[in-house]
Amino acid sequence: MGNDLDHVLLTEEQIHARLDELATEIWRDYHDKDVLLVGVLKGAILVMADLMRALPGSAPMDWMAVSSYGSGTKSSGVVRILKDLDTDISGRHVLIVEDIIDSGLTLNWIRANLTSREPASLEICTLLRKPEAAKVDIDCKYVGFDIPNEFVVGYGLDYDERYRNLRDIGTLAPHVYS
Ligand code: XMP
Repeated sequence: MGNDLDHVLLTEEQIHARLDELATEIWRDYHDKDVLLVGVLKGAILVMADLMRALPGSAPMDWMAVSSYGSGTKSSGVVRILKDLDTDISGRHVLIVEDIIDSGLTLNWIRANLTSREPASLEICTLLRKPEAAKVDIDCKYVGFDIPNEFVVGYGLDYDERYRNLRDIGTLAPHVYS
C-alpha cells in the first residue's frame, strides 16, 4: 500500500513533532480553562489521538460527524449532522480539532452551528490547511502545516475510505485512480 503514494508530503516524525509543539501552545492557552476538544469524524481521529496524548494535562473530548454534499472530492458547504455532540457546550471553552481545511466550507458551517450554542469561546486547531483552496476565510488559531492544493491521504485522511492507516501524509500515485 505504501507504493500507492506518489510522494510523501509529511512524514510521521514531522507530524508528531509539530503536534507536540501545538499541544504545548494549546496547553499554555487552556490549562486553566477546562477546554473541551471537539473532533470531526472521521478524518480527525489520529490527530485527536496524538494531540491529546501530547497535552501536558488531560482534557475531555467529544465528536461530531457531518456529511457535506458536493460532487466527488469537492465540498459544497451544505452540511448535514450525522452525529451530534453528546455534550452541551453552552458556556464551555471549545477547541475544534480538524484534520484539514480545504475550501473551508464544511468548517465554516460547523463553526456557525457551534457558535449558535453559545460556548464561552470557540477556536480551531487543524493539522493541515490549503491556503490556495480557501473559499471562505477561517480564523484558525492553531495550524500544523500549510500545504499545496493537492488531494492528500494518510494519517486519518482517506481516498474512498482507504489509506487512513498510512503513517505518513502524501499524494496518491496516478495508478490508483485508473
Ligand atoms: P472543505 O473543502 O469543506 O473540506 O474544507 C471538507 C472535508 O473534506 C475532506 N477533505 C480531504 N480529504 N484529502 C482527504 O483525504 C484531502 O486533500 C481533502 N480535502 C478535503 C476532509 O474530510 C475535510 O474535512
